[in-house]
Formats: sequence, C-alpha cells, structure tokens
Amino acid sequence: MGKNVLVIGQGAREHTMVWKLKQSKGVDQVFAVPGNAGIAQLAECFAVKPEIGNLLDLIDRKQIDLTVVGPEAPLMEGIVDEFEARGLKIFGPRRDAALLEGSKVFTKNLLKKYSIPTADFRSFSDIDEARDYLRKRGTPIVVKADGLAAGKGVVVAADKETAFQTLDTIMRDRAFGDAGREVVIEECLQGEEVSVFALCDGKTVVPMVAAQDHKRVFDGDQGPNTGGMGAYSPPPFYTPELHRRVMTEIMEPVVKAMAAEGRPYKGVLYAALMLTADGPKVLEFNVRLGDPEAQVILPLMETDYLTVLEAVIDEKLDSTPISFHSRAGVCVVLASAGYPGKYETGHVITGLEDVSPDILVFHAGTRRQGSRLVTDGGRVLSVVGTGDTVAEAIHRVYREIPRIRFEGMHYRRDIGARALNR
Ligand code: AMP
Ligand code: GLY
Repeated sequence: MGKNVLVIGQGAREHTMVWKLKQSKGVDQVFAVPGNAGIAQLAECFAVKPEIGNLLDLIDRKQIDLTVVGPEAPLMEGIVDEFEARGLKIFGPRRDAALLEGSKVFTKNLLKKYSIPTADFRSFSDIDEARDYLRKRGTPIVVKADGLAAGKGVVVAADKETAFQTLDTIMRDRAFGDAGREVVIEECLQGEEVSVFALCDGKTVVPMVAAQDHKRVFDGDQGPNTGGMGAYSPPPFYTPELHRRVMTEIMEPVVKAMAAEGRPYKGVLYAALMLTADGPKVLEFNVRLGDPEAQVILPLMETDYLTVLEAVIDEKLDSTPISFHSRAGVCVVLASAGYPGKYETGHVITGLEDVSPDILVFHAGTRRQGSRLVTDGGRVLSVVGTGDTVAEAIHRVYREIPRIRFEGMHYRRDIGARALNR
C-alpha cells in the first residue's frame, strides 16, 4: 500500500509539490489544504484553515501518513511541534528553528556568533538609538523589520530621508505590527543574488540545485518588488567553486550552529545570498522552498520526492542518495494587471489545453467558475520549461506563453536573461 500525503498551501509552489508527489511510486493519494484549482486536478482539496484541529480531523479521516508544508506561516506558528507531539510525520522545521526566517535579529546574531559571512549590522529595539545610528552612517543603507512583513519589511535606502522614513514606518507606525518591534540596520552589499537550497535533517546537509529569482515586477529589474515574477536554474555565475565555499562557509556551519543552540534544523533551508567581491554573504534565510524557485527545482529533482521527504523526517539523509538532473529550468509567472498593487480577479483564462505537453503549467491564483477557469490572485500561473541549457528552456517556455490568455495578463520577458549575458 502506498502512502497518503497532505500538502499545505495554495500557490504554484504547492501545485509543483503535488505534481511531483504524484510521480512517486510510494504515494497512493495526495490531499491539499486549501489547494487551488490546479491542485484540485491532482489531489482532493479541503478549503479549511491549516489549523491543528482541522488537520488532525483530516489526517484521521483520510489516513494521511505524512504532511509537507509549503509556506512559512504555519511553520512559525509551530505546526511541526504540534504534529511531532502527537507522533505524526511532517516535513519542516519546528517553531524554534523557523526563527531563522521569523526573526532577522535572531539570525543576524547567530551568524555573528558563529562567524558566518553576512552584511555588517546593528539591531535596535529603541527608535531613538536607531535614528542616532542612521545619522552616523552613510548611504545606501538597508533597514529591515525584525519579523515577517509580507516581503515589505526590507528597504534598501538610497538616501537618508528614505532610511528615516522606513524606520518610522516600521517602528513608529508599526505598519507590520509586532514584526517592527526591532529593526536591523545593515551595510548595503553589491553583487549578484542567488537562492541556494539544501535539505537538512538536523545533522546532514544535502544541497539541492541553486536558482535565481526575479523579484521586481518589470523587465530589467524595474518597478516594485513582488513575491517573484520568475526564476531559473542553474545560475551560471554560481560556479562549483562558489558552491563549495557556500556549503562549507555558510550552509553546513549554520546547520551545526542551530544544533549547538539546541534548535536542530530539519527541512529545506533556503539561503538568499549576495555574491560579493569578498565572497558569498547571507542576505536572509527562509525555512521552506521558494516560490517561484520550487517550480524549477522540483522538476529537476531526479530522486523520488517521497524518498527525499522521508529521508529528512527520519533523519537518514546521510544514507539516502539524492540527485538532480543536470538540466536547466525556467519559470515565468503570469500575473494580473496591477500586481503587486491592486488587481481584479474573475477574468477567464483560456488556451491552457493548447500549450505543448513538454511545458508545465502550475496554478497559483486560479479558481473554477462553473466549467471555466478564472483568475483569483495576483500571481495567476507559473509556466515552466526545461532544456539542456537555460537558453533552450527560455526558448521553449516563451514560445508557448502566448497561447495562454486572460484579460490584463502580464509577465516579464527577460526571465533567465542574466544567465545569457554572461
Ligand atoms: P531580504 O528579505 O532580507 O532577503 O531582503 C529582500 C531583498 O532586499 C533582497 O533580495 C535583496 O535584494 C535586498 N537586500 C537585503 N539585504 C541587503 C543588503 N544588505 N544589501 C543589499 N541588498 C539587500
Ligand atoms: N522567491 C522568494 C521567496 O519564496 O521568498
């Protein structure tokens, strides 16, 4: 008998997880909370909040063997602790380890204590002291809310006025609530950004493939930040030499540090790094797969996904061979007009059935309305192509996108272009 797996989340990242799990020989049924219209084609979805009571009921009724969490919020709220206390299998870090994403002050202090490379910084819980410090510093300078702020809590301030305004927004106005009780003010780093992912079981660290995200809404990295407009893998500037450095100077030391602090780290560790002239430095950690990075990483994973999840949960990474295809992947996000600002929903999506079968289409903000599929979010679809090279994957994915249509659809035309200009 195969295993029943529950996926928590509702984005294109979670659609990719479900798609990958469906290819596992060891998987019987897949369920999702809450899922989306794309996930519903592969898994039974339950439109309930991912709260422990609802989940326990579902696990019991559907005989679920293992749960995997997509987004960070349930991890910070301690979903893993709740499951483990009941002897239930779940993939992800406990609350005290999820702090690596949940608190920038915690993370910066940990990095400093263990001499892991990151931008020079100070943290403040007193706004006047923070202002004094800003006065003495030059620009550009980076101001960060301590806690989660939906991607809006970090500002790279080009001038002092912006830096002071950001500080006020975070600490005085509490625009992000308690996430702004403390701030980190740090040196602005220059270089190429890369997203590095590793599987961790508390002791062993196994690298996944790296990727590059495209956070700005418009081509040429213009316009406001978004949840991510696309990603590709592998980034050519992330050389084998750099990879070795990142593993020995950053990923392995952090996992060791967390164990030493009594907060063993299990799950996917996602390091956002700046490749500076002084070497790779940590911008931040996330305690989960990235979105849209997951949409290129999971299709490149060669090893059975269930095997990978179980190796982490059962702490057997040291004896489980895990491999990735040496191919390239490109993901382009199709977004609603106005995103990341205000946008409309309910526009009919057409053309999905005309897309070539070698292209993957993962849903994010979509919904069924009778027999039609309509838009239901800012990021609507993730379109993914693979190839022997990034150039080939780019060619394939952009050739098929024009077949898909919805009113106001927009997307970046330059996903992966940075890989070609090298
Ligand atoms: P974070 O949420 O901390 O990763 O920050 C969001 C984005 O802000 C990053 O992806 C970077 O583009 C930028 N950023 C954060 N910290 C720095 C820094 N110290 N220097 C330059 N850019 C930064
Ligand atoms: N791609 C950015 C994130 O998942 O946080």
